[in-house]
Amino acid sequence: MILRRHGRAVVWATAALLLLTAALRQAVSFPLYGQQTALPAGSELNADALVTPREVFHSEAIGGRKSYLINLGDLAFSSPAILGGLARRAGISCNTCHVNGAANPKLSIPHMSAHPGTFDTTGALFSPKADNGVFDPVRIPSLRGARYLAPYGNDGRSASLRDFVRNVIVNEFAGPEPPPAILDAMVAYIRDIDFLRNFSLNPGGRLNARSSDAERRGEALFIKPFPHDPNLSCATCHVPSAAFVDHLQHDVGSGGLFKTPTLLNADFNAPYFHDGRYDTYDQVVGHFDRVFGLNLSRQDQHDLVAYLTAIGDAERPYERDGIGAQVKEINDFAGVLDTAIASHDTSVIALAVDTVDLELRELIEWFPDHKDASVAGGDEQRLRARAALKDLVLRLRRIDDAATAGRFDDAAAEYKNYRNLSLAAVPSLLYAAQPWSLFNPAVHDSHFAALQQTLDAAKR
Ligand code: HEC
Ligand code: HEC
Repeated sequence: MILRRHGRAVVWATAALLLLTAALRQAVSFPLYGQQTALPAGSELNADALVTPREVFHSEAIGGRKSYLINLGDLAFSSPAILGGLARRAGISCNTCHVNGAANPKLSIPHMSAHPGTFDTTGALFSPKADNGVFDPVRIPSLRGARYLAPYGNDGRSASLRDFVRNVIVNEFAGPEPPPAILDAMVAYIRDIDFLRNFSLNPGGRLNARSSDAERRGEALFIKPFPHDPNLSCATCHVPSAAFVDHLQHDVGSGGLFKTPTLLNADFNAPYFHDGRYDTYDQVVGHFDRVFGLNLSRQDQHDLVAYLTAIGDAERPYERDGIGAQVKEINDFAGVLDTAIASHDTSVIALAVDTVDLELRELIEWFPDHKDASVAGGDEQRLRARAALKDLVLRLRRIDDAATAGRFDDAAAEYKNYRNLSLAAVPSLLYAAQPWSLFNPAVHDSHFAALQQTLDAAKR
């Protein structure tokens, strides 16, 4: 239940603590996962956020539909099963850190994060072989627009997105060698994650008529040659017409060679720089002022910050998480089964069943059962919602069983039933229970306040 955005945000304590309290036992009732105990006490995954980054797919933005490959990649991206060891046991997937393809500025894991939003990809916790023996956490980047942002890694060590992703799976998270088809799918998915639109920019990356005077003065400074090096300006590295990158590594006085990061949608990418050392654009501008001897006046700094804020903005960066969004995602994932069953692809069937199963179980937890004292009313509705989701879990299992036994016609028939239920009957039962679910902010807050109290009491 700590997964992604569906479960508990804070992964607290130990097994003993979990067993201590009745309230906690209810919160993880169907069934009991060991996940909460797998990570160090105090880990924060921000998994129960009611507001999540909005994700836009290029294939949908241009009026098409996401392909099978992209949905399969999205599924794998959300699947702890493709990773190894601790990540798998703790229910961590790519999506835990790169939430809906964006970053996760709140994620913090003791011994692996220096501050929220950073993570040591060369630490020992998830993969002893990745350990470089140094505590060197780096900022978790957004993957929006990744297809424009090669080379990959903050030092630009990998020209190939595919190689980078394989390395994350196999070396950083101790996963098994991914099948080539899964790797292709993940690359297709990541390449489909678009930048969010920014109404202040024209297609060449220049400010349009909506801009303020301060923003325009900032833009002029951005493209103005530096006093001590007329070949250099902010814009020679952050090229406005090229997603504000130059695909090169530079030493900008931050401790080595790092690739130029994009400034598009960057308002949501703090903390800034490879190690997340800066929280604000003010600090970043102050850094460049010092390092390049720019002699910026206070007004100049203010204008540059106004400009960065304008070009880093986005249309509707966040959206409320709700039943509609969850059901759509789960159905997109399950939709992979259509093709996988028809092509008798048992490994993709197993991956889809495992991942959707986990998502459904997490969704169940958003409808607390009658024993949860922090939620009052709607017992019957909650019971029905939970039962409907449990029924889907069982149907999924039957699909997998049939496919494993080579009975693909049975699997297809079972999938058709699953599909019909998940498209109509189940969502309407979920909506009926919504007022008493954690999707209701008031219920959400009282539920987690009660949980917090129980945990505090247990700590004393
Ligand atoms: C625990 C957090 C975490 C998880 C889980 C995680 N990542 Fe990352 N990811 C990071 C961090 C931190 C970086 C920055 C590493 C660096 O630049 O050296 C990163 C960088 C990346 C980049 C490079 C982006 C760029 O523009 O350079 C890609 C692509 C990526 N991750 C994909 C994935 C995929 C695919 C998975 C799952 C197989 C995954 N990540 C799982 C934290 C995570
Ligand atoms: C020589 C190339 C170069 C120049 C010139 C340059 N930058 Fe950068 N910029 C970089 C690199 C490289 C980083 C990443 C540094 C790191 O990760 O440690 C960066 C980081 C940033 C960031 C943080 C983005 C993030 O997501 O972390 C901002 C904002 C930024 N630059 C704005 C500017 C502004 C404004 C100027 C002009 C005053 C400027 N840059 C000049 C290369 C450059």
